[in-house]
Amino acid sequence: MPGSSVKMLGKAQGLPADQVFLDLEDAVAPLAKAEARKNVVAALNEGDWGGKVRAVRVNDLTTEWTYRDVVEVVEGAGPNVDCVMLPKVQNAGQIQWLDITLTQIEKAVGLEVGRIGIEAQIENAVGLVEVDAIAAASPRLETIIFGPADFMASINMRSLSVGALIPDYPGDPYHYILMRILMAARTHDLQAIDGPFLQIRDVDGFRAVAKRSAALGFDGKWVLHPGQIEAANEVYAPSQEDYDHAELILDAYAHYTSEAGGRRGAVMLGDEMIDEASRKMALVIAAKGRAAGLTRTSRFEAQ
Ligand code: GLV
Ligand code: MG
Repeated sequence: MPGSSVKMLGKAQGLPADQVFLDLEDAVAPLAKAEARKNVVAALNEGDWGGKVRAVRVNDLTTEWTYRDVVEVVEGAGPNVDCVMLPKVQNAGQIQWLDITLTQIEKAVGLEVGRIGIEAQIENAVGLVEVDAIAAASPRLETIIFGPADFMASINMRSLSVGALIPDYPGDPYHYILMRILMAARTHDLQAIDGPFLQIRDVDGFRAVAKRSAALGFDGKWVLHPGQIEAANEVYAPSQEDYDHAELILDAYAHYTSEAGGRRGAVMLGDEMIDEASRKMALVIAAKGRAAGLTRTSRFEAQ
């Protein structure tokens, strides 16, 4: 949820999103930064966030604001902060700075050391080139986020339509960036999250962009407006059909590899051959489906 006005902060609390982030960066004007910190601390302490992950995006480390953002928010609302999001990360050292600063504050005010996680936004060419080292920089790191708007500006991409395909280019101009982030995230067991789609009334446009990163394996996408939430939840969850299929593969494979099922390695499920690799793929889809609250509509029956 961008911005940190009291009204917006109140509105975000009841929405069916998995996480909410309160912004001190680009949605807050330079002259409003100090007031925004206070609003964020109050909203974290007084709001009912209903089990959502509560993140705060601080300003990036090329500004004069970052250290005060971190100190004021974590000293003021530490037990109610789950993650600090660092934008425009350029190297592993910046993540290490945040890790050490969080540790100092946690020790100083008596918070559990290491509980607060870090989310890193990759938003420029330097950050992308360094993404492997960034992903390995701290055990606090939980998530790598693609920041398409800043990224497009950073590489001089000739488009103002964030995340959308560019008619003059025959492929997906974001494919390399998304894959690069995804590889770093998966290597270090982190979540990979796609960034914002700014045309908030164009839900079909949002869906089209989201489908591309979801197809690659991204775990989710930012929403800037309540109108985008339903589409996001739908796109990043597997379809009912794929979910049922994944559960069937898991059951069938468990059965056929067992003593009773004949201790077989590769077997047929309908017209499809399944083996250990199928089980691994099915585990991914089944886990996403279960996490999204899907329930099975079919059962496996041994032939
Ligand atoms: C998000 O921060 C973006 O720049 O896209
Ligand atoms: Mg940005």
